[in-house]
Amino acid sequence: MTVRESQLAYEGLASLDRPRLVTDVPGPEALARIERDRRVTSPSLPRAYPFVPRRGAGSVVEDVDGNLFLDLNAGIAVTSTGHCHPRVVEAVQRQASELLHYSASDFYLPVYAEVCERLDAMAPFGGEPARSFLTNSGTEAVEAAIKLARYATGRQYLIGFYQSFHGRSMGSVTLTASKAHYRTNFGPMLPSIYHSFYGDFEYLEQVLFKRIVSPTEVAAIVVETWLGEGGYLLPPEGWFGYLRRLCDEHGILLVCDEVQSGMGRSGKTWAVEHEGVEPDIVTAGKGIASGLPLGAMIARDDLMVWTLGAHGPTYGGSQISCAAALATFDVIQEEGLLANATKVGDVLLEGLRQIQSRHPILLEVRGKALWIGLQFPDHDVATEVELAAFRRGLLVLTCGDDAVRMSPALVFRKDQALAALEIFEEAVAAVEAEG
Ligand SMILES: Cc1ncc(COP(=O)(O)O)c(C=O)c1O
Repeated sequence: MTVRESQLAYEGLASLDRPRLVTDVPGPEALARIERDRRVTSPSLPRAYPFVPRRGAGSVVEDVDGNLFLDLNAGIAVTSTGHCHPRVVEAVQRQASELLHYSASDFYLPVYAEVCERLDAMAPFGGEPARSFLTNSGTEAVEAAIKLARYATGRQYLIGFYQSFHGRSMGSVTLTASKAHYRTNFGPMLPSIYHSFYGDFEYLEQVLFKRIVSPTEVAAIVVETWLGEGGYLLPPEGWFGYLRRLCDEHGILLVCDEVQSGMGRSGKTWAVEHEGVEPDIVTAGKGIASGLPLGAMIARDDLMVWTLGAHGPTYGGSQISCAAALATFDVIQEEGLLANATKVGDVLLEGLRQIQSRHPILLEVRGKALWIGLQFPDHDVATEVELAAFRRGLLVLTCGDDAVRMSPALVFRKDQALAALEIFEEAVAAVEAEG
């Protein structure tokens, strides 16, 4: 395909405002592919529903049967600039033709340093100088934060929160406390990690610090700024101010995990900017490279005290992912995607509240910008709604114990939001009618 042809194909697909289904969903080709997949892949993969994508543009994805879906998952909050944004694709292609790999751990990659410069400048540290460490994924960014927090403070304990999700490698899964399933048969977990309750103002001080661990031994409080996998929840007013005060009082680092909430999904670069505090370390991933594997641990400069060789991967901050990240930062800025996230998010939230007023099984509509959680009576109902939406060509995903999330790309448009609302209401009504 020539550049012009691929641009036209992108524009044609991205301009659609609603799904177009040409087979039942899943279709015959999807079913055949799933059957083949099941014979060879790890059964641990947490497949949500039988969706088999082939190509995408913006917020539209075509499956292997030629069905066109409206995508409110964005590859699970990853494709921030939409699927295959031409500028991201072009940056990846250019970098791929120049140099595929040279390890940033052991040598100096200009594109790696450029990404760090941009991230450091974006860091929500109130203008304090920052440094970044790049990884392949969110979980590795969390591991890096755990290691740096221990290294920089000389303390071993960490505090996480129930309902939170930080990844599945051994350190991050120990902080994760959303489902026992993630830990079952994998113990022992990392020692020296305790959990408190997200949004609670008492348990940390009154129970943990009083009876279990002295705050003088705690290296960091690690918190998802907004709770993602746990249900797309927002914290209560003032809670981050409370956490910040506790950290300052006891010399504890505040680590905000923004792997899911960061990179514009909240309408600001970082969700913590809505909370009126400055963390000490931020972890990022998912949306920062529009779909290429990249994570980042961004810390205040004075905390980056670890020495040569203390930490570093072969692939983390790969040239290709870095090129995609730079294009992503430019697109978000130049196309005004933070403002778009807020504007289109408001349309979705308003429409969803109207749907809630007509359908009692939708118990709560919560969120900000393109971070939207929809509460249903239980997990089965939430799953039925997810599947009913899928069969109508709308991609959404369950989260928490009993919720559905909407996390479309930051390029999601108002016309697409209005179509999504119509289809979502049909799905909710169908589940409600089945009783
Ligand atoms: C808040 C948060 N932290 C960390 C992770 C782990 O990221 P990854 O799956 O890239 O390892 C996730 C993934 O969903 C997440 O939502």
